[in-house]
Amino acid sequence: MKRRKLVALISQKGGAGKTTVTMQLAAGLAERGFSVAIADLDPQESALRWSESASPEKPFPALVARIGGDAEALRAQVKTLGHKCDFVLLDCPPSIEHPHSEGALDLADLALVPVVPSPPDLWSARAMERFILSRMSVRKGLTGALLPNRVQRTALSGSVLEVMRDFSLPVIGAALTQRNAYAQSAVLGGSVFQMGKSAQAAQEEVERLVSAVLGLLGHR
Ligand SMILES: Nc1ncnc2c1ncn2[C@@H]1O[C@H](COP(=O)(O)OP(=O)(O)OP(=O)(O)O)[C@@H](O)[C@H]1O
Ligand SMILES: [Mg+2]
Repeated sequence: MKRRKLVALISQKGGAGKTTVTMQLAAGLAERGFSVAIADLDPQESALRWSESASPEKPFPALVARIGGDAEALRAQVKTLGHKCDFVLLDCPPSIEHPHSEGALDLADLALVPVVPSPPDLWSARAMERFILSRMSVRKGLTGALLPNRVQRTALSGSVLEVMRDFSLPVIGAALTQRNAYAQSAVLGGSVFQMGKSAQAAQEEVERLVSAVLGLLGHR
């Protein structure tokens, strides 16, 4: 790849999985040999706390930096992180109104929207899609995609995924299903990759997600 890539995990809906996907994707990219930094843009500081839960013997495989300040500070701090690594993942606050949501879309190469297959998540994904499409119309370097998360084998999940096909943004085929391993790895301050065979299915999902993200970024 020519230069470091910036991926924003963004959704208007709280609890859609922005932080979970950020941490697993970071670990999955690190497994492939990439250096990764995470910019925690959320005042809740979940990504930072997640990484701080790691033991000193097994640190989280990406640098996590809490980013505050205004849009200019965001740009400068993300630029500095980008000097140090191949990927910067931006874990956004759960609000379109937060200035760092727009700031993240002004910097990102890819905006990924985790969407839990439920009607309220779908409605707020519509609003986020409009937001991303409007930024894409003024920034040709930005692309966007929807990522189904917490998918279950239920009729509701199936019909919501069906509706998502009508969105303008592409839906990533490599969805993450509902699995305890994703939540448990937060307790360890790590990722599903350090959980051994019991988390093999989750590891395979994250590996497919990494491949899909690299594909969207034009990485061959
Ligand atoms: N695929 C999954 N399987 C099981 N649990 C999940 C999955 N994705 C997320 N969760 C759980 O859902 C909750 C919300 O996830 P997370 O904190 O990643 O969402 P978020 O979008 O970052 O939330 P916020 O908007 O508050 O920042 C957490 O308890 C997390 O462990
Ligand atoms: Mg979060």
